[in-house]
Amino acid sequence: MAQQPKRFSRLRKLGLLMSGIAAVYMGLTAYENQDSLFRTFVMPAMRLLPAETTHNLAVMACKYRIYPASNYMDDYNLHTSFFGRLISNPIGIAAGFDKNAVALNGLKDLGFGFIEIGSVTPMAQKGSPKPRIFRLSEDRAIISRHALDSDGHQVVMQRLRRVLARNDFKAVVGVNLGSNRSSTTPIRDYVSGVKIFGPLADYLVVNATNLPSRGHHSVENKKRLIELLTAVNRAKADLNQRRKVPILLKLSPDMTLDEMKEIVAVIALKKCHVDGLVVSNTTSTRENLSDSRLASENGGLSGPPLRERSTRLIAQMYDLTKGTIPIIGVGGISSGRDAFEKIQAGASFIQIYTAFVYEGPDLVDRIKEDLSLRISEAGFANIQEAVGSNYKEYLPSK
Ligand SMILES: Cc1cc2nc3c(=O)[nH]c(=O)nc-3n(C[C@H](O)[C@H](O)[C@H](O)COP(=O)(O)O)c2cc1C
Repeated sequence: MAQQPKRFSRLRKLGLLMSGIAAVYMGLTAYENQDSLFRTFVMPAMRLLPAETTHNLAVMACKYRIYPASNYMDDYNLHTSFFGRLISNPIGIAAGFDKNAVALNGLKDLGFGFIEIGSVTPMAQKGSPKPRIFRLSEDRAIISRHALDSDGHQVVMQRLRRVLARNDFKAVVGVNLGSNRSSTTPIRDYVSGVKIFGPLADYLVVNATNLPSRGHHSVENKKRLIELLTAVNRAKADLNQRRKVPILLKLSPDMTLDEMKEIVAVIALKKCHVDGLVVSNTTSTRENLSDSRLASENGGLSGPPLRERSTRLIAQMYDLTKGTIPIIGVGGISSGRDAFEKIQAGASFIQIYTAFVYEGPDLVDRIKEDLSLRISEAGFANIQEAVGSNYKEYLPSK
C-alpha cells in the first residue's frame, strides 16, 4: 500500500514531462522543419533524462505517433524479398525497443521495412531492478540488463492481433521469443511462443542467447540447442498453416570460432532447421570504449563499440554457411556506411536499436538514402547483389 503514492507521483511526473515535450514540439513544429527540430532540440533534451526514461519516451512517441511520419520514397534498389514477403527497404527495428507491441503504428510511420517486437515471455515478468539501462554518451552506446521485461504471451498476442486486423496496417512484423527467468522448462516456453505467435507473425526469432546455458561445457550446450530447435521445429510443423512461419535464430556475438562451427553443424540437421540468423545480440565484452566509467556495470553492451565484432561474426557465419542462410545483421549500425558494411559482410537485412534511441526518428530515412546511394555507386543494381560481396574483408586474419 505504501508503494501507491510513490508510483502515482512518478506517473504524474512522467505525464507532465510528456505533456511538456509534446507542447514544445507542437509549438515549434508550426515554424520549423520537423526532422531538424527533432535533431536540434528534442533529441538533445531527451539525452538529459535518465536513459530508461528516454527509452520509454521514445516508445511513447511511437505509440502516440508524436514523431513525424516519414514521406521518404524508398528507392527501387532497396526493395527486397523478406522470407517471401516484399519489403520496400531492408531496415528493421531490433528486438527490445517495442517489447510489448505497443508502438507498431508509429514504427511503421517512420519507414522501417520490418518491425521485430519482443522478446516476449510466456508469463508477464518484470525486468531487473532499476537502474538497468546505462547511457555511455561519449561512445553513443548503451549497457542494459533488462532481463526481459515482458507483458507475457497472451497480452502481447491480443495487442498484435488487434493491430494486424486493421486493413491499413501492412508492415512485416516478427516476434522475438524468450523464456521466463523463473522457468524450469525454458524449451517449453519457446514452444508455447511458436504456438501462440506462429499463426500471426511474419517471422519468429528464437532468442537463444536467453536460454540458460549449462556452464561452458560445449557438448552440453550443443545438446541443449539441438533439443530446443527440434522442439521448435516440431511445434512449427504442428501449426495448421499453409504458409509455415519462418523461424530465425538470434546469436550472441561472444562466441568462439568452434562454437560458431557447432551452431552451423546443428542447424544443418533437418530436425533443427532454421530459416535465418539474427547476428547479433549485445556483447558482454567491454572493447572499443573511449569512456570506461560505466564499463563495470553488468549487462550487454550495444551501439558502435559492438559494430566490428558483430560485422566479423556476420562474415564468419556467411562463410561457414556458404551464404545459404539469410542473415539479419545488427550491432552498432548508425549510418548508411555501417549498414552497407553489414550487407557486404553477408547480411541480407539489417536492424537498428541503440542509434535510433540516440539519433531520433529521421535516422531511418538518412540510412536508407545513404545506403541506396552506396549500392548504386558501388555498381550494384540492387541490395541482393551487394549481399556478401566483400565478406572476406571482415574475416579475422588467420
Ligand atoms: C535496452 C535494450 C534491450 C534489448 N532487449 C532485447 C530483447 O528483449 N531481445 C533481444 O533479442 N534483443 C534485445 N536487445 C538487443 C538488440 O535487439 C540488438 O541485438 C543489440 O542492441 C545490438 O544492436 P544495436 O547496437 O543497434 O543496439 C536489447 C538491446 C537494448 C539496448
